[in-house]
Amino acid sequence: MSGRGLFVTLEGIDGAGKSSHIDALQSLFEGARRQVTRTREPGGTPLAEALRTMILNEAMDALTESLLVFAARRDHIVQVIEPALARGDVVLCDRFTDATFAYQGGGRGFDPAVLSTLERWAQSRDGTLLQPDLTLWFDLPPEIAAERLAGARVPDKFEAQPVEFFRQVAAGYAERAEAAPRFVRIDAVGTRKQVWARIEAALAERGIFETSKR
Ligand code: TYD
Repeated sequence: MSGRGLFVTLEGIDGAGKSSHIDALQSLFEGARRQVTRTREPGGTPLAEALRTMILNEAMDALTESLLVFAARRDHIVQVIEPALARGDVVLCDRFTDATFAYQGGGRGFDPAVLSTLERWAQSRDGTLLQPDLTLWFDLPPEIAAERLAGARVPDKFEAQPVEFFRQVAAGYAERAEAAPRFVRIDAVGTRKQVWARIEAALAERGIFETSKR
């Protein structure tokens, strides 16, 4: 989009490996002389990080969870994302609203129509709905993700869920990806090097670096 930065999000089920590529993505954009604002959801501001601790650790019903996720998101958009995009930055965000549709919608089975309403409330400004320009979706079979996660660290509320939960989350992502051309599916099976090569190929295919280089 002209006159503003580039909003890039990373998505995928827990254990899909998206976080291990953020450093390299940041270096890639910085090498193309772009300012990068790197952030995450839930989180990215002091208020949203406080909400993250509750969302990831406290048991709550799915509507409460969705409201907290969107409250955190609203603060994050107003304080961090919008100002960064207005400056022309590349915003690299580890998860965004697609995670809400996948986890609260798919995983927890919460009504996507309500999520769409919350999305409009939280992400609208002057009649425009803020959406990522590009979403890298790390797609990995839930069974493989579970193996990668096993024993890696103390699991949070979501990571402790059974494989079936992640099957639903994965289905939620697949549905979102089908509806939005901004999604790029990255096959996350294989070594980190193989996956990185796929990311580079996907970015080149989309002409990301042609448009961002000056
Ligand atoms: P994650 O991004 O995997 O961070 P870390 O790598 O530090 O574990 O963890 C965030 C968790 O929050 C993840 O399990 C998905 C969940 N989540 C939601 O349920 N809804 C949301 O809208 C977002 C952004 C995340």
